[in-house]
Amino acid sequence: MSRIHSSAFQAKVMSAADAAALIKDGDNVGVSGFTGSGYPKEVPVALAERIRTAMAAGEQYRVGIFTGASTAPELDGVLAASGGMSFRTPYQSDPELRKAINTGVTDYCDIHLSHSGPMVRQGFLGNMDVAVIEVTAITEDGQLVPSSSIGNNNVYLDVADKVILEVNSWQSEELEGMHDVYYGTELPPNNVPIPIVKPGDRIGQTTLRVDPSKVIAVVETKDPDRNSPFKPLDEDSKTIAGYFLDFLQNEVKQGRMPKNLNPLQSGVGNIANAVLSGLLNSDLENLTSYTEVIQDGMVDLIDAGKLTVASATAFSLSPEYADKMNDNAAFYRNHIVLRPQEISNNPEPIRRMGVISCNGLIEADIYGNVNSTHIMGSKMQNGIGGSGDFTRNAYISCFVTPSTAKGGAISCIVPMVSHHDHTEHDVMVIITEQGVADLRHLAPRKRARVVIENCAHPDYRDALLDYLERAEKTANSLHTPHDLREALSWHVRCLETGTMKA
Ligand code: COA
Repeated sequence: MSRIHSSAFQAKVMSAADAAALIKDGDNVGVSGFTGSGYPKEVPVALAERIRTAMAAGEQYRVGIFTGASTAPELDGVLAASGGMSFRTPYQSDPELRKAINTGVTDYCDIHLSHSGPMVRQGFLGNMDVAVIEVTAITEDGQLVPSSSIGNNNVYLDVADKVILEVNSWQSEELEGMHDVYYGTELPPNNVPIPIVKPGDRIGQTTLRVDPSKVIAVVETKDPDRNSPFKPLDEDSKTIAGYFLDFLQNEVKQGRMPKNLNPLQSGVGNIANAVLSGLLNSDLENLTSYTEVIQDGMVDLIDAGKLTVASATAFSLSPEYADKMNDNAAFYRNHIVLRPQEISNNPEPIRRMGVISCNGLIEADIYGNVNSTHIMGSKMQNGIGGSGDFTRNAYISCFVTPSTAKGGAISCIVPMVSHHDHTEHDVMVIITEQGVADLRHLAPRKRARVVIENCAHPDYRDALLDYLERAEKTANSLHTPHDLREALSWHVRCLETGTMKA
């Protein structure tokens, strides 16, 4: 049976190819999608085909793409490969798109996820011509039941001149009721406080609104979300998870947090997911989460009765767990609230509730500055995502990483980060498989020694200590000792020889 319960919307049903033809060269397109969930599955593929055909005929056909965050090969992958993506914001992780960004084919604007919706609303990023949004169903009165992510959909549906809807019957109908779409935000200076005081608070409505007169096409699909499976837990991930758990338990013992902890945020990637698995084997109970994505580890915590409620904007589930979510959405909607990303990542509730953030990194320096985005200072990996939204505003901000990359050829602890995303003022705790550096009460010279001794791999400790001691002897040895000539020679050596090892 069709999921389109409104006859006005039924009348607009067409093929993905016909809908894609309504997107023109030069359009800015706001699409749904957040970490491989809830993205439109068929219109972008049809659009990429049109772009390829037009370009083969020597015609110009390029579009700007605005999303919630990363998507999947059927969206970012095909459009980047077509060469027709002129602009992209705010977060991505697709190999084809990464190539287009790093070669300058696509202009990439890497902004905080909590800023992206409001910046579009404010008009800083140009006019939004079309929104292409996946939904689970359209109700009789024309409301949209959201899909497995919300992201910026509320904003794009409101501001776009025209709207194309994909109604995906692969998504469980029982997702209805899981979402909390808040329409109370205004642009400054008229903004008002967001009335969330606990992660599970519901402050909005369960559906997205759309002006029916803007809807130019409705496409019916039945394609699954596509997220990559997580890597199996290795020894290092288990060790990192153990250190994180010990750290949290000590905070409780010191009386700085309640027994069930403050709400947890867990970032993207394998290590962050592994950390959640560590909590599963602990005696912690009644946990809550105010985060951006729901990963497999969080579903396990709900199943085990350890996590009572999780607030996020999207699922980031392996195929196996996505099926499990679909089969049991009626159960999970009692424990999960999906919100627009301008609310899930908003600094105001994050700071108010005292969220504990936990994110991955590419490299950290001895003073606690963190690079989350650029390999060797220049190559864009994914983007800052929500890591800044949470780190800057957390009660305790943690970063977790293996101490080395590329089979040990590269140290993830360096004298000076080659690109700067999170400053020493925001980064409180760094955890590797070597140990924990709690930087909260330490001045720079002490921070450096703790980071080297507790977090750096033994293969690199002497070289880092040697750098620090030489920096302390230079004329520039002031509050934060650096030898600027030497600071980035680590990275230079690695670029020249493929390893940071001496
Ligand atoms: N130097 C060079 N390369 C490095 C490196 C370093 N110091 N550290 C990691 N890499 C490489 C890895 O080798 C890997 O390369 P490959 O793709 O060729 O295999 C790649 O970077 C990714 O590393 P990996 O260890 O697989 O990453 P991850 O899944 O743990 O993710 C981040 C780490 C930083 C990329 C990821 O957490 C991220 O995108 N963070 C920013 C956004 C964010 O934190 N969002 C969450 C907020 S809710």
